[in-house]
Amino acid sequence: MNTNRWNRIRYTFYAPIYDWIVQSFNTSRKRSIQLLQLKTGERVLFVGAGTGEDLQFVPEGVEITAVDITPTMVEHIRRKAELLKRPVQVSVMDGQALELPSESFDAVVLHLILAVIPDPIACIQESARVLKPDGRIVVFDKFLPENEQPSLLRRIANVIAHFAFSDINRKLESIVVTAPLNLLHEEPAVYGRFGYKIALYQKS
Ligand SMILES: C[S@@+](CC[C@H](N)C(=O)[O-])C[C@H]1O[C@@H](n2cnc3c(N)ncnc32)[C@H](O)[C@@H]1O
Repeated sequence: MNTNRWNRIRYTFYAPIYDWIVQSFNTSRKRSIQLLQLKTGERVLFVGAGTGEDLQFVPEGVEITAVDITPTMVEHIRRKAELLKRPVQVSVMDGQALELPSESFDAVVLHLILAVIPDPIACIQESARVLKPDGRIVVFDKFLPENEQPSLLRRIANVIAHFAFSDINRKLESIVVTAPLNLLHEEPAVYGRFGYKIALYQKS
């Protein structure tokens, strides 16, 4: 059921109320983007950018590109960029097959996308591909600890969670190990007891 087509349908439906649903994540968004230490003139890519709630936390002078598979979300990003008076390159694009040149970004932001996108390994590999050497990736999402197996109850709950919003049983390390990335820092995020965390990586 987790396909690009289904994601487009459900996120088109969520788009008008999305900012209200995710407002409690803002402290973690801000912290995550701060960890990137973005500098004037650097280029940052947001994959699965949603309504663009992250844009407000990007320092002035940083060049922003934001992509999402859902056209309605992309429209929201455009409007938010206008409100913030920030130039943002926005496109409808699949985060599993980025139509962007290799080694063209200083940083990639993966907020609440690795647990949503159908193929998170393709997404992390594509994100690493478009990063310049030594570029950084920051991930903010919920994951199952690597050494934990989901309980029967959690697996049953995931049938609904996966259908409605995102997979609650993905493991971050198993995804990231497939890309040329080194972990620089990791910390619990808001709702840390539910597995939400922030992790910063550098391209090796
Ligand atoms: C939970 S929302 C997260 C949005 C945003 N990153 C945030 O932090 O609020 C997931 C987003 O991923 C997008 N998405 C799902 N599959 C995608 C894909 N294959 N490529 C790009 N975006 C995708 C959805 O349209 C949705 O906007």
